[in-house]
Amino acid sequence: MNRRGFLTSAARGLTLASVGRALPVSAQPDGPPPPGYIRLRVVQSELTIEGKTGKAYRIEQDNGTLGWSGRRGDLFRVAVDNTVADPFSIHWHGVILPNGQDGVPYVTQAPIKPGERRLYDFPLVQAGTYWMHSHFGLQEQLMLTAPLIIREPPSSPEMKDVVVMLNDFTTRDPSAILADLRRGPTQSMKMGGAGMKMSMKADLTDVRYDALLANRRPLSDPDLARVTSGEMVRLRIINMTSGSNVFVSTGRLAAEAIAVDGEDIVPLPGTRFELGVAQRIDLQVVIPRGEGAYPIIAQAEGTDMLAGIVLVTAGATVPALSARASKPGGALTNGQESRLRAVRPLARKPVDHRLSLTLGGDMAAYVWSLNGQVWPRITPLEVKQGERVELSFVNRTLMTHPMHLHGHVFQVTEIGGVRLRGAKRDTVMVIPQQTVKVEFDALYPGYWMIHCHLLYHQAAGMMTVVHYQGFESRSYDPLASMTEFPRP
Ligand code: C2O
Ligand code: CU
Repeated sequence: MNRRGFLTSAARGLTLASVGRALPVSAQPDGPPPPGYIRLRVVQSELTIEGKTGKAYRIEQDNGTLGWSGRRGDLFRVAVDNTVADPFSIHWHGVILPNGQDGVPYVTQAPIKPGERRLYDFPLVQAGTYWMHSHFGLQEQLMLTAPLIIREPPSSPEMKDVVVMLNDFTTRDPSAILADLRRGPTQSMKMGGAGMKMSMKADLTDVRYDALLANRRPLSDPDLARVTSGEMVRLRIINMTSGSNVFVSTGRLAAEAIAVDGEDIVPLPGTRFELGVAQRIDLQVVIPRGEGAYPIIAQAEGTDMLAGIVLVTAGATVPALSARASKPGGALTNGQESRLRAVRPLARKPVDHRLSLTLGGDMAAYVWSLNGQVWPRITPLEVKQGERVELSFVNRTLMTHPMHLHGHVFQVTEIGGVRLRGAKRDTVMVIPQQTVKVEFDALYPGYWMIHCHLLYHQAAGMMTVVHYQGFESRSYDPLASMTEFPRP
């Protein structure tokens, strides 16, 4: 099939399954990638943030650029090279792709071993702000994360783009953090999960970090983005943190949110926005006349940690910024979510199939569950190709869980009992004691992960799969994933 025919049929959602063939593995991670492929190397590095040094991975191209960018209609042709000492697996978050290339170890692919190269090759049918991250063990905490930006084809008008990556930084070994959480509540942290004696107070966060970073820098030494007066700028903000829901403030700049999770929304004006873990928000701002420096700042829910970048015109002085807020940030409410409307909503169609997921947890033992099941001992949720599926997330815990479905875009249809035709997304926050419903069309056969995107919840079991009836895969062996995590 020629490229054009391939893309047109892919756009109809027809060929994605058939391109999910096994791709050749080249044994030459040090050699050049095959013609037409971009190489993404995973390398080990370190970051020193305000005097504290911690491990950090990079997913970089040969020229050092983090991640990948391209256009809708392009083929995503990437050779991923493992140049580190550990196996990993890279998931292309939010991207519609063949199941066999979704990058989940023991579900869709084997991990990429040290010294190994893995090839990816599929058509990009979306345009928007996406990202990539390890789906192996706790590597996401060590910043095995990068942007994946898909722009519209060159014919469409474009404005200046500024990508903002948020990460939470720790000098600790993530497996020690998980072990501590499993050991139970500490004095420094008030715990409260379903099933415990508790105050009816929500837990905003269960892990303490050394810092919040934007573009891998602390707010005391921020990334500066050059802008010109009068210019329109699109901020593509990606919450790549392991456990920090944030508020994003544009300060003196009036902004409009124009997309969430890569999908266009009816513009929502504001200066302060909610952004859950793994979500993206695209904000459009206009730089005022004259010289100026405009900080764009994120504050993690329930903490005083700040991170941000500064949009700066030529000649302007950048103010000194502190990485600590004067008071801790409050809780996200999903109030923003209720006001979002998709530009291209799902076609009106009756629901064929209803699935419900009850989010549960035992904070004392640090076990998190979906419908009482703990990964990897789960029963897949079954769907049939072509169905309109409604998925209800029922949160019985006192924490907010950013719930993510792989390989699909869903539309938010109900929040706290109120029906809406809300945003299309791939990750939705479900706040304590709330029920959120979403709908999606089952168009892409496979085994697709559905999980809480708080890394330590995912590692502690809050993960399951959606399975298309009749789909078979030799890669599917969840119990093998036990080897990913150090077990006490
Ligand atoms: Cu971004 Cu399964 O995750
Ligand atoms: Cu969670």
